[in-house]
Amino acid sequence: MNLKQISCAFALMASLSASAQQHVMDVNTKKLGAPVSSTMYGLFFEDINYAADGGLYAELVKNRSFEFPNPYTGWDISGKVTLMNDGPFDKNPHYVRLAPSGHRDKHTMIENHGFFGMGVKGGEEYRFSIWARVPDGGNAKLWIDLVDNATMGDDQKLGNTSVDVSGKEWKKYTAILKPNRTFAKAHLRVWGDSHVTTDVEHVSLFPVNTYKGRENGMRQDLAKALEDLHPGVFRFPGGCIVEGTDLATRYQWKNTVGPVENRPLNENRWHYTFTNRYFPDYFQTYGLGFFEFFQLCEDFGCEPLPVLSVGLACQFQNGDDAHAKMDELQPFIDDCLDLIEFANGPADSKWGKVRADMGHPAPFNMKFLGIGNEQWDTPYYERLKPFVKAVREKYPNIKIVGTSGPDSEGAMFEKGWVAMKDQKADLVDEHFYRNEEWFLGQAKDRDGNKLNCGALRYDSYDRKGPKVFAGEYACHGRGKKWNHYETSIYEAAFMTGIERNADIVEMATYAPLFAHVEGWQWRPDMIWYDNLRTFNSVSYYVQQMYAMNKGTNVLSLTTKDPADAKGKKTIPVAGQDVLDGLHATAVYEKSTNEVIIKVVNTSKKDQPIKINLLDMKGERMAQTITLKHAGSPDDENTLDNPQMIRPVNGTLACSATGKKQQTELNDLVPRLSFRIYKIKK
Ligand code: AHR
Repeated sequence: MNLKQISCAFALMASLSASAQQHVMDVNTKKLGAPVSSTMYGLFFEDINYAADGGLYAELVKNRSFEFPNPYTGWDISGKVTLMNDGPFDKNPHYVRLAPSGHRDKHTMIENHGFFGMGVKGGEEYRFSIWARVPDGGNAKLWIDLVDNATMGDDQKLGNTSVDVSGKEWKKYTAILKPNRTFAKAHLRVWGDSHVTTDVEHVSLFPVNTYKGRENGMRQDLAKALEDLHPGVFRFPGGCIVEGTDLATRYQWKNTVGPVENRPLNENRWHYTFTNRYFPDYFQTYGLGFFEFFQLCEDFGCEPLPVLSVGLACQFQNGDDAHAKMDELQPFIDDCLDLIEFANGPADSKWGKVRADMGHPAPFNMKFLGIGNEQWDTPYYERLKPFVKAVREKYPNIKIVGTSGPDSEGAMFEKGWVAMKDQKADLVDEHFYRNEEWFLGQAKDRDGNKLNCGALRYDSYDRKGPKVFAGEYACHGRGKKWNHYETSIYEAAFMTGIERNADIVEMATYAPLFAHVEGWQWRPDMIWYDNLRTFNSVSYYVQQMYAMNKGTNVLSLTTKDPADAKGKKTIPVAGQDVLDGLHATAVYEKSTNEVIIKVVNTSKKDQPIKINLLDMKGERMAQTITLKHAGSPDDENTLDNPQMIRPVNGTLACSATGKKQQTELNDLVPRLSFRIYKIKK
C-alpha cells in the first residue's frame, strides 16, 4: 500500500467507527524530558517453578551427586548398588559403588529420570560425563544408554555409548550420545561392569548445544528468550530464595561458585511452601550460580543486580528468634563485601581469583547490590544499617537497593520508604502482585479511599528520595491466577506510568520469569516450557515491546483535562477516567532519531485517536507494532499454539494538517490492545 491507499483505508476505518468519540493527544516532540535509564526494563530470576534445575540450567540429570536427603531420589537402582560417603568432593561426599553380581547377565544398574523425564532431540549431541574409579585397581567398562521406557524391545534405546574406567584415582570420563529420535521423557541408564566394582559420582548429561556452547551451560531456547527481551538489568537469585525458609537454607552465593562438582546442594523452599503444589524432588544444585549469573549479564549486555541476605529468615514464616542477631551479622556483611570483590576485584584478590580461576579474569563491573528481599519493619531497618555503612565505606560507588516490603501501599510500605530515605538507599525495591483494579488504578482500601496504584502511581512520588525499582510485579486476575491476555494488556497500561516517570523509576522487572508446565508453584509467569518446547506469554511480549522501544528521553504526552471547563489544563493520558481507558506515553530515541508513542486501549471498544506531533511537519510514515487479540480475553499462548498472540508489525501514514502542515497521526486503536508508533523526527 502507498501513502494514499493507507490514508483511504484509515478514512474507511474512521467512518466505520464514526459513532465513537475521537480522543486527541499532544506530543511535545521538541522538549526532551528525563532520560530513560538503560536499566529500565529487565529480568528477575528466581529458582521457582523449576526455573534453574529442570529449566534454564541445561543439566538433564536430577540428583547427579546422590546428595538429596533421599540419595536415590530421581534414580532407579538394581543389583548391588551401595551408597558411599567418602567421595572426591568434600561438599558433596556421596557417590555410589556398583558391584558386579557375579553373573554375566545380572546387571548392576542405575537409571535417572531427569526432571519430568529428559528432553532429547534426535540427531543432536549430548555430552555425558561421570566421575569414576575402580577401587580395587585395574580396568572396568561402564555402559551408558539413553532410553525411552514407553517403548520396549530393540527400539527402546535412543542412543548408547560406553566409557573405559581405569585405576584407583577418581577421574572424569566423557562420551557423546546422539539420540536416534526426539523424545521428551528419556531416562539415562548406567550399568556397571559384570566383573569389576566401579565407583561413580556426579553423573551428568548436557546438550552440547547450550547457550553459547558452554559445558556447564544454559538451555539454548530459554536463554535466547531472555536475550530477546533485551534486558537492561538482571535481578538474581530471588525472591524468598534469598532468605530461605530458615537461615540455614538461605541462598549462600559462596556455595555457588567454583567447580560444579563441589557446590553443595541446598533445599529449595518452593518444594514445600505451597502444600497444594508439593514437589519433594525440588532442590538447588547451584549449577547455575553466581558466576553463571554474571556471565549471562555480560552476554545480554545488562547490569547485574544481585540480592543478598540481610540476616533475616523469611519474615512471613518466622518469629524474631529465627533471624541473625545484631551481633551476628558480620558474616552476612562479609558476604556482601566479598561478592563485590568476586565481581569486581582484581584477579589476584581472594575472591577475584576465584572468578579468574573460573575463566573470567576481567571484572564483571557490578554496580548494584540489593540487601534483603521483601523485608519489613524494625528488624530490617536496624539490620540494614551496618550493611550500608560497610558497603559505603569500602565500595562508595556501589548503588544500594533496599526494599519497602511485600505491600504495595499502606502503613508498613510508607514506613519502609521513610526508613530507606533515612538510610539513603539509592533505590527502593517495590513488589506488587495485584488484581485488575489495582493495575488500572481503580483499587480502593477498606475505607473506600483510592489507592496509589496503576499508571498514575509514580506521578506523585517524592523526587528527592531514592529511585524506584519495581522489582516484582504482575497482574493477577481476580479469580484467575494464570496467564491471560487481558491482564497483560493491563500491565502494558500500568507501564505507561513507569515510562512517563522515568525520572524517578529506574528499573522494573516482571515476576516470576520462568515456569515448567509440569512443575510450577506460582503463576502467572513470563516464559513457560516443557522438556523440549517453550512459549512466551503475552506478558513477555509486553515487556519486550517496552524494552525494545524504551527510548532515551521521555516526551510530554498530554490531553485536555475533561474536568477543566475552560479547556486549558492538560493532563497525562493515564487512568481509566481520562480517555475512556486509553493510556499513552511517548519517548524519543536518540540513536534512530525517532519519536516512539505507546498507546494502550484497556477498554472493550475500538477507539479512534488523533495524536498531534507538535513541532513536526509534513506527511510521514509511522512503523507500528501491535499486540491485539480477537478471541477471548482469557486466552493465552500455549505450548501447542505458542504464537497465537504476538506483536505484529505494520505501518500507518501520518498526515499533515493546517497552515503549518503539522504532522498528525490518526488511528483506530483496537479494543484491549497495545500499539507502538515509531516516527522518524
Ligand atoms: O515471585 C515469587 C515470590 O513473590 C518471591 O519469592 C517473593 O519475593 C514474592 O513474595
